[in-house]
Amino acid sequence: MANRIAEEKIEQIRQTVDIVEVIGDFVQLKKQGRNYFGLCPFHGENSPSFSVSPDKQIFHCFGCGAGGNVFTFLMELEGISFQEAAIKLASKVNIDLDIQFASMPNEKKISKELQAFHDAHELLRKFYHHLLVNTNEGQHALEYLLGRGFTKESIQKFQIGYSLNSWDFVYKFLTKRDFSPEWMEKAGLIIKREKDGTYFDRFRDRIMFPIFDRQGNTIAFSGRTMGDDTPKYLNSPETAIFNKSKILYNYHQAKPTIKKLQTAVLFEGFADVIAADRAGVENGIATMGTALTDEHIALLRQSAGSVTICYDSDNAGIEAAFRAGNHLLEAGFQIKVAVMPDGLDPDEYIKQHGSERFRNEVIGASLTWMAFKFLYFRRGKNLQNEGDRLSYIEQIIKEISKLTKAVERDHYLRQLAGEFSLSLDALRDQQKQIYFAEKRKDNRNVHSNNKPIIIPKQSVDLKPAFHTAERCLIAHMLKSRDVAYKVQDSLQGSTFNVDEHQAIMTYLLGFYEEHLQPDSSAFLSYIQDDNLRRMVANIEMMSINDELSDQELSDYLKQVLNHKKLLKIKEKEAELKEAERQSDFSKAAAIGIEIYQLRKSL
Ligand code: CTP
Ligand code: MN
Repeated sequence: MANRIAEEKIEQIRQTVDIVEVIGDFVQLKKQGRNYFGLCPFHGENSPSFSVSPDKQIFHCFGCGAGGNVFTFLMELEGISFQEAAIKLASKVNIDLDIQFASMPNEKKISKELQAFHDAHELLRKFYHHLLVNTNEGQHALEYLLGRGFTKESIQKFQIGYSLNSWDFVYKFLTKRDFSPEWMEKAGLIIKREKDGTYFDRFRDRIMFPIFDRQGNTIAFSGRTMGDDTPKYLNSPETAIFNKSKILYNYHQAKPTIKKLQTAVLFEGFADVIAADRAGVENGIATMGTALTDEHIALLRQSAGSVTICYDSDNAGIEAAFRAGNHLLEAGFQIKVAVMPDGLDPDEYIKQHGSERFRNEVIGASLTWMAFKFLYFRRGKNLQNEGDRLSYIEQIIKEISKLTKAVERDHYLRQLAGEFSLSLDALRDQQKQIYFAEKRKDNRNVHSNNKPIIIPKQSVDLKPAFHTAERCLIAHMLKSRDVAYKVQDSLQGSTFNVDEHQAIMTYLLGFYEEHLQPDSSAFLSYIQDDNLRRMVANIEMMSINDELSDQELSDYLKQVLNHKKLLKIKEKEAELKEAERQSDFSKAAAIGIEIYQLRKSL
């Protein structure tokens, strides 16, 4: 690459940028001891296992194993290349990188094939949009949208388009521009006919909704029929650039508002997102017709701590809202639920009742999670009927028992007492009973729902002694160049038992050839292997003494070397058995002596 960022510049960025500040933009961090802790942005969790060390300028998650320095953090979180991460960081701290725009690395980094996928989507997005807004062929589609209440502004903002009623328009359009049909099939834009190997367009005579990734690239489409064809919405298949379980519709446009308000509004369909946006709710997102995944949640966590769920108010919608809410709750989000009357979906509600009422009476009046559960458990029950009523009340008391704040429990118990003209004292008694009954159950289970927020212990505690010893040695070697060489000498040509540990040591000694001082963050960049990098980040987070005493060093070395001897002894013992089986007693005696000597040297 001609215009690589100079090594000194990278070094300058590393020296200037503070990892706590950078990660702080995505994760709420709390200081605890020397390090900062927060909820990991790479996996869903509700107790913080994600730690950042300002001294070492590195991060590590004890939960999912993610780890690295400020560069790898941005690369993994935003799905960008090293150079892109460097450019972002440089601009954050005003370092001029002296690189030409022509060498913007993102094009270089991704393969020709992926680039073609992107380019084709980009071209088609523009073309579909043009067909919709400017042509006779698209006239009826435009009328359909306007009739449904879409405005010109939102058609523009969401780049909605129209695909022609043709079997091969897109095929010709793309091949004429030198896109390979094989690739375009892989990109999901055309489909191959089994019988003769010819191709036809996937999307025909549909309203086209482009799907964007976080950077605003078009990566897929969803086409809605204007008639009664099935499916109603036809989506691009999963491709190398489109993964439904990672994509939230409109996230790229909504992100700034989500951040500002610290909350996102989750819809079931993107027609709802677009209608809500028109109504002034600009922090709306939706999944692509799938349930909410851990990846979606991790993405949301980067910009919000709370979510308002605004699903269709039909039965399916309420069930889906309940599931999504529980999932988000588990991940530590604050939840609200916006409900609409009469089985409407948000899009229909806005059309019938207008933007203002949607903002005030639906979004503005969203229910707390508990209040939503009052409604949820009521469905399908006839509360005039005593049996139904009692089971409903018990169900609700169970839910109230899960609340951790006494004030909240009191509030909802009163509400329940009021509604059913029950004695508050009796309800309180029953609530306590249920609470203790559930607690007993919980104690019997290994997993309790209300885990206290503690930093998880490293699983290394369960590993054999030599394993821990090797980790401790590496931890000290990472802290001191002298110790690194000392350990190497003391091993006297022998190696660590765990291959990865040995690989880390090899990297580290290589690093010290070029660097006279230890530097955790720089070392993480030096390691090319993701898995090793995570391991190093994990080891860096171990708490060890500042100095390695000679006694400690020799204890650790003994563990490492003894393990080798123990393996050797096992091997010899097998040989001994074999020799005895063959009645080769002189051989057996010789092996016996070897074993004895090995044992003695332990
Ligand atoms: N969906 C889908 N495939 C279908 C139907 C729905 O992928 N055959 C997804 C789409 O992402 C859609 C969401 O599920 O946005 C919600 O579906 P639905 O409630 O049926 O659609 P609406 O949002 O009400 O769309 P419209 O108002 O256009 O009917
Ligand atoms: Mn709808």
